Amino acid sequence: MKNSIITGIGHYVPDRVVTNFDLEKILDTTDAWIQERTGIRERRHVTPGEQSNYDLAIEASKNALNDAGMEAHDIDLIIYATLSPDYVFPGDGVLLQRSLPFRNIAAIDIRAQCSGFIYSLSVADQFIKTGMYRSILVVGSELHSVGLDYSNHGRHVSVIFGDGAGAVVLTPTDELNKGILSTHLHSEGQYAEELAVIDPGFYKKDRITSEMYKPGGSAFPVMNGQSVFKHAVVRFQEVIQEALKANHLTLDDIDLLIPHQANLRISQLVQKKLGLSDDKVYNNIMRYGNTTAASIPIALNEARSENKIKEDSLVCLATFGSGFTWASALIKW
Ligand SMILES: CC(C)(COP(=O)(O)OP(=O)(O)OC[C@H]1O[C@@H](n2cnc3c(N)ncnc32)[C@H](O)[C@@H]1OP(=O)(O)O)[C@@H](O)C(=O)NCCC(=O)NCCS
Repeated sequence: MKNSIITGIGHYVPDRVVTNFDLEKILDTTDAWIQERTGIRERRHVTPGEQSNYDLAIEASKNALNDAGMEAHDIDLIIYATLSPDYVFPGDGVLLQRSLPFRNIAAIDIRAQCSGFIYSLSVADQFIKTGMYRSILVVGSELHSVGLDYSNHGRHVSVIFGDGAGAVVLTPTDELNKGILSTHLHSEGQYAEELAVIDPGFYKKDRITSEMYKPGGSAFPVMNGQSVFKHAVVRFQEVIQEALKANHLTLDDIDLLIPHQANLRISQLVQKKLGLSDDKVYNNIMRYGNTTAASIPIALNEARSENKIKEDSLVCLATFGSGFTWASALIKW
């Protein structure tokens, strides 16, 4: 069986920088509160009404294809991870498919929130291993800013999330011990409502109503922050150790850990518990906030451009998020 290698990476974030001080003007918060609890200094927001989720994905995809030296028509499958889709249906995968000169290939949307990118990477890896597809575009793209509750009900959530997209191109290799070595996926649905957007869903409804869209309404994200924090710290560690064990490796073998950029305090605690040095953990949440499914490919692209990933580097990707879902991937570059 062949391994999958990442032959191209790209990302795109909107130009509009929204600092914590900008948020102070529209909601009851402070730069000090946000930085102390999350490490975030600024994030990117689209200009409302001007950009869609898939517009961000188009730019990230073009950059990843360019990096891989490929054209859209070379791609055999699109896998699109998002929790902030443009439409309830169809998925964003087909909106991306129509936007670049792809063939009439399959487009799969993956709904695993902050774990969406690693779940998608895992699905893509299986298609490459079986030989069904040879070139797969995996995209994580999020447009949070227009769907956040900027009233006091939602301020603990609204300060965290940012907009952005990242993409990778996967192709097969015959080289052993190269590319994606393994992926590990988990969920625990009993916590589904701990971090969720309930509406406009179809769960036991009479009708969709305008009440849902009022401040504190069910169309905005809800989060039990402390529960998310506690579970995340444990699951991150578990799933990283699981990946290492599956490959008979240890923490010392990791050259770079790229945790999903949930919250800098979570990443720092995981780093401390695992005993990893600062140069082995990549964080950029300070500049982008939490971009859920996009956070890992954005960080991957930045880490590589900063020369933190080189030939033969062992890169560990790990995530935790809504669902709850959590996952890891170990990649030999
Ligand atoms: C969200 C999080 C930063 C909130 O921090 P916390 O210490 O748990 O804060 P709480 O929600 O208990 O609120 C503490 C106080 O701050 C206030 N507060 C909440 N959001 C605020 C904001 N944006 N600005 C200022 N004050 C805020 C609360 O109203 C509360 O005030 P009170 O003590 O007067 O009642 C924290 O729980 C967290 O990081 N959780 C993990 C979230 C995460 O990573 N999510 C993404 C997962 S993929």
